Amino acid sequence: MRIILLGPAGSGKGTQADQIQKVYGYPKISTGDLLRKAVQDGTELGHKVKSIMEQGKLVDDEIVLELVREKIHRPECQAGYVLDGFPRNLNQGLGLEKIDSTRPETVFEILVTEEEILRRLSGRRVCLQCGAVYNINNNQPKVDGVCDLCGSRLIIREDDKPEVIKERFKIYLESIKPLVEYYQRRKVLFQIDGENTVENIFRSIKSIIDKRISEGRQSVNSK
Ligand code: AP5
Repeated sequence: MRIILLGPAGSGKGTQADQIQKVYGYPKISTGDLLRKAVQDGTELGHKVKSIMEQGKLVDDEIVLELVREKIHRPECQAGYVLDGFPRNLNQGLGLEKIDSTRPETVFEILVTEEEILRRLSGRRVCLQCGAVYNINNNQPKVDGVCDLCGSRLIIREDDKPEVIKERFKIYLESIKPLVEYYQRRKVLFQIDGENTVENIFRSIKSIIDKRISEGRQSVNSK
């Protein structure tokens, strides 16, 4: 199963991808995390994308496609994977289809208002080492400023400034519509109300994944 999470910045894609990974064992592939790691490590790629990311703009389609291609062909992704933050436009969606069209796919679009996003992202703290995400309002680490999972220092993301959040939201709305329509035509898109608790959102997502897995088994059995 290939699971794709669409949604604006702060809609909870990463949070839900972690839940899916925990329950189903599908590795999470987050293009945002991969790019931030490259910036942090000071690689050639990191230098190339740093200022684009800080402005909240989209990195070149070819760059992110290459990152995803490299990950999804690894053995741990053979049973399935969760894409967090990729694809973000139709070109990336078509590119994904070219590099992996073998798995059944389920796409969730998590819907959240700009107001709620601004509220959430102002409280977000992240661990650049292991990718864990916290929130000072409703999901605090046990020790202030320290990651529960790996003990690294938590930071505020460069792109979590209000003016950059607004830019990211605008770009999301501009680029996502053709991709959403593409998945709607393929009948694999499920829209989820993202203004609920993490647990309730995951419950909705899980019930759909379970149904899709069981439909997949039935169609294999009937062949
Ligand atoms: P990326 O890292 O993917 O950022 P994003 O899409 O803007 O999404 P976020 O990571 O900000 O939010 P999220 O939806 O994962 O929410 P989260 O779970 O953290 O990309 C960053 C940049 O990289 C892009 O701007 C671009 O430059 C580049 N990039 C990446 N992918 C690219 C691509 N495919 N093409 C081109 N460029 C690309 O939750 C947010 C906060 O809210 C957390 O604090 C969390 O604890 C809290 N929270 C989560 N759920 C809830 C809830 N239900 N209720 C209350 N609080 C909640």
